[in-house]
Amino acid sequence: MKYVITGGAGFIGSHLAESLVNRGDSVIIFDDLNTGKKQNLIKVLDKIKFVEGDVRNYNSLEKIFQSTDGVFHHAARASVQESFLKPAEYFDINVNGTENVFKIAHSLGIKVVYASSSSVYGMPTKLPIKEDDPKNPINPYAKTKLEDEKIARKYALKGLNVIGLRYFNVFGERQSKEYAGVIKLFLERIQEKLPPKINGDGLQTRDFVYVGDIVLANILSMESNIDHTFFNVGTGTNISVLEIARMMVKYSGLDLEPIHGPVLEGDVKDTLADISHIKRELDWKPTVFLEEWLKKKITTFNINYKT
Ligand SMILES: NC(=O)c1ccc[n+]([C@@H]2O[C@H](COP(=O)([O-])OP(=O)(O)OC[C@H]3O[C@@H](n4cnc5c(N)ncnc54)[C@H](O)[C@@H]3O)[C@@H](O)[C@H]2O)c1
Repeated sequence: MKYVITGGAGFIGSHLAESLVNRGDSVIIFDDLNTGKKQNLIKVLDKIKFVEGDVRNYNSLEKIFQSTDGVFHHAARASVQESFLKPAEYFDINVNGTENVFKIAHSLGIKVVYASSSSVYGMPTKLPIKEDDPKNPINPYAKTKLEDEKIARKYALKGLNVIGLRYFNVFGERQSKEYAGVIKLFLERIQEKLPPKINGDGLQTRDFVYVGDIVLANILSMESNIDHTFFNVGTGTNISVLEIARMMVKYSGLDLEPIHGPVLEGDVKDTLADISHIKRELDWKPTVFLEEWLKKKITTFNINYKT
């Protein structure tokens, strides 16, 4: 099959590109290299077509969507903190860019699987969070993701096949430094033998899901007979940021005590996905869990310390 991945030079998109290429699919990546890097695609660069472009540019998107079987839409600005500084730019890229994707895919009759976000829920009223629970986004980035969902519904009513995947906190290799979640930032500190720096008391909890499992959710969604839905993509387990910091220090064997900084604006207190919908409909389940992944990763650092 022939697929387009918008945002394919980024963290998640580049993992998806590798999996599709390994299966024998043809892949076109459309990315403006804003936060993405060609380096992320080093393993597949000679096997894919790379087009540098902006999702706000309707005409260039339209050209590359021709004669493809589906679009995985991942292009977005994804930093909560930056979205407070540049709300209009975030809206333009994440909302207008996404509407371009839906509009063109609809006119060509191709399916879209796209990256929504658990941030659409905002502060959850109860845990675990189900897909139908209230949506109260608390930062400009999250608001763009909720707006995208409204647009997805509008185009679905017109006949577009579109599945939105509400990713919880994604971790894995190549997570971008600038927009990194806590895992990447803590790992960097530990590697430099510095204590992890926690925003606030660290009692906030997150549902961390592995990037390889996110890739599988994308492929299963694309290949399913489901025309339109939204799926939570998490693990159904959560852990506090403080526990992660302590766990990482323990695995490192270093004598460190986490330090605390101010609470970040726009940060939710807790997340935890109810994943029964995706389990039932796609037979998807998480296969890699944070603790075992971190243990392996930090053991590798320990070997490096000694060399
Ligand atoms: N990483 C997470 O934990 C997480 C959680 C929920 C949702 N998401 C969503 O998943 C998607 C991918 O996130 P990621 O973590 O891989 O981030 P990323 O920043 O690594 O990837 C985003 C990609 O989009 C590209 N891009 C940005 N603006 C563009 C534009 N105007 N035109 C074309 N390309 C553009 C960037 O260059 C980058 O390659 C995003 O839509 C993000 O909102 C991510």
